[in-house]
Amino acid sequence: MDRRGFVTSGMAASLAGMTGAGGALGALLDKTPGWGPGKTDVNGVVRLNSNENPLGISPAAREALIGAIGESNRYGGRRQELMEELARYLNVKTENITLGFGSTEILQVATQAFQGPNTPLIAAAPTFEDVMDYQDTMPFEVTTIPLTADLQHDVGRMREAASKRPSLVYFCNPNNPTGTITSSADIDAWIAEAPETTTFLMDEAYLEYVTDDSFWPALKWIEQKPNVIVIRTFSKIFAMAGLRLGYAVSHPSTAARLNEHTIQNSPNVLAGAAGIASLKDTGIVARSIAVNEESKAIIHQTLDELGLDYLPTNANFLMHKINGDLATYRNRMAETGLLVGRDFPPMLDHNRLSFGMPDEMDRWAATIKDFRRKGWI
Ligand SMILES: Cc1ncc(COP(=O)(O)O)c(C=O)c1O
Repeated sequence: MDRRGFVTSGMAASLAGMTGAGGALGALLDKTPGWGPGKTDVNGVVRLNSNENPLGISPAAREALIGAIGESNRYGGRRQELMEELARYLNVKTENITLGFGSTEILQVATQAFQGPNTPLIAAAPTFEDVMDYQDTMPFEVTTIPLTADLQHDVGRMREAASKRPSLVYFCNPNNPTGTITSSADIDAWIAEAPETTTFLMDEAYLEYVTDDSFWPALKWIEQKPNVIVIRTFSKIFAMAGLRLGYAVSHPSTAARLNEHTIQNSPNVLAGAAGIASLKDTGIVARSIAVNEESKAIIHQTLDELGLDYLPTNANFLMHKINGDLATYRNRMAETGLLVGRDFPPMLDHNRLSFGMPDEMDRWAATIKDFRRKGWI
């Protein structure tokens, strides 16, 4: 059986096992809107523009969600149980963890806790923009430093910018929107020598998809360096974007500082239940990676065939070029029901394509090939 058949039949078996196992549960799931893998919505629109995991949450998480509905009248959100399960999963202590309403809340909380008029934020361009958005409501400067020619964070220039005063440094690794890796050795060399007044926000939202071995997680620093905050999410590999659950891992003193700014009774009970079940589902990570690899192969093959350049990716999306105007391309794709990206200045000559299910990528491949036949791309 080829890889694609393996992934698809493995998923089918797991879903069938799930619905077949409990008649009542199966019947309930059959009536549950949105039940089933894939992210094609009811209007047939395929979202290849938001870096979501198209596989859908794990069957175990679906079961846990349904089981937790009856607890919706209670406070608590299974917070303690989730903290303990997460600590086990990461091999850290609960004191190291800060929970957030997605990792977006963690980015906001980190700016609240560490940012100020004399502490600039130093970030790459382009990178994930959210952390910069809080500049509108809080008094801090942002220094953006372009990626290097090989699309890594420019560690040397960022370091120089941070050398003048206390700073909050944002590393998105793998980087969104480029999907590229910045060498962990280069970042480590800086962290090892940086003063405590340089705080490192290490956003590892796409960690599990990495294939480049010049990357390794920043988690190893947290006991030694209170100025390192590692940020992760359940949105990507665990496909829980709509449930909003993310977290930071840092030194207990840093976690305590971050926790002062978070909502103390989060997460909500459904996110908590699904999070615990996802961490216990030993297969979801491998299934998500396998689907991602299969979709990536279809995309690579298609772009190669069309002679369109693309960036190496370590995530569930990639950036590629087309011949012609990008806005027109996106509009034409949208007219066929495929949403494919938006502008990411200053890289206005690339489109960011998020990976859907393999059959969705086949649909995209057929469409872009049709565009080539029409002379559009
Ligand atoms: C690099 C990066 N960090 C954080 C987030 C926020 O994710 P969430 O708030 O769903 O955890 C995203 C979302 O796309 C992202 O790309």
